[in-house]
Amino acid sequence: MSAATAGPDPGTVHLWFCPNEALDEATGDMLAEHWLDEQEHDVARRFVFPRDRRQYLVAHILVRRVLSLVTGVPEAEATIWRSARGRPFLQVPSGAPTRPSLDFNLSHTHGCNVVAVGHGRRVGVDIERLDRADERGLEWIVSSYAPEERAYLATLPPGRQRDRATLRLWTLKEAYAKARGLGLGLPFDSFSFELAEDRGVLGFRPPEGDTEGRWVFAELEPRPQVLVSLALEQGTGGTPAPSRLLVHDGFPWGRARPRELPLPQAHPDLPVPAGAGR
Ligand SMILES: CC(C)(COP(=O)(O)OP(=O)(O)OC[C@H]1O[C@@H](n2cnc3c(N)ncnc32)[C@H](O)[C@@H]1OP(=O)(O)O)[C@@H](O)C(=O)NCCC(=O)NCCS
Repeated sequence: MSAATAGPDPGTVHLWFCPNEALDEATGDMLAEHWLDEQEHDVARRFVFPRDRRQYLVAHILVRRVLSLVTGVPEAEATIWRSARGRPFLQVPSGAPTRPSLDFNLSHTHGCNVVAVGHGRRVGVDIERLDRADERGLEWIVSSYAPEERAYLATLPPGRQRDRATLRLWTLKEAYAKARGLGLGLPFDSFSFELAEDRGVLGFRPPEGDTEGRWVFAELEPRPQVLVSLALEQGTGGTPAPSRLLVHDGFPWGRARPRELPLPQAHPDLPVPAGAGR
């Protein structure tokens, strides 16, 4: 498999960023018709506003396209299974060659979509737009954060700087909660992050039952004011730690060369509890 796809290299994590406009509406509708499963069609039919339906369609077409590039399984034939909490997993067809188990996660917001794919590890991703912050402002979400995060935010001047830090923390929290498959079911004050000044994480206090050393976090900004965070599980069962992040931009019609971004190193000295949080 080419280096431009999420091949079987278990140390490599791939991220696809795709704005809605990368897929015109007529093509999107046509692909959705052919590729999405019954459950996805069902959800798509229920949207009241066309822009929400379009957002959903582009995101789900992107997921199927990415999974097809990674596995070679045609888009319409991928079976996506969802946990009781709604986390999607790719169901491996019986008789498929053994390979490190693939994990993926999707996030979409206001015309932007992102899909992360890893092998042999859980991945979680979240995307938020700073330029489309809630009309109420961001102060209201801070009350769900851990005390040390609230204290840190209170030291920042209100406005741009505090909003940015607030949203960086939000995307990190969601990415972690989504990697765990718990989503908003995980209380956001039960774990915390210490932010590096511009980008990246200096410290992570995990919730009960998990360890700091089990995770690596990365932040990127694929477009100005568009914040993306990734939570990547360290290698388990012989899988190496994540060592490279390849970022693909646009709708992946072909195998365009991705951009490589450095990944921070996790703490090798911190043990990972057996089966933590599975
Ligand atoms: C996961 C969750 C945090 C997503 O929040 P969001 O910021 O609105 O959405 P994002 O765009 O970042 O992510 C949405 C995608 O995450 C994925 N997802 C859904 N549930 C997930 C979960 N529990 N864990 C990880 N990923 C999940 C899906 O691909 C979803 O896309 P879709 O809605 O188009 O199918 C939120 O939906 C949640 O907390 N879900 C869990 C609900 C739950 O616990 N239900 C129990 C039964 S009542």
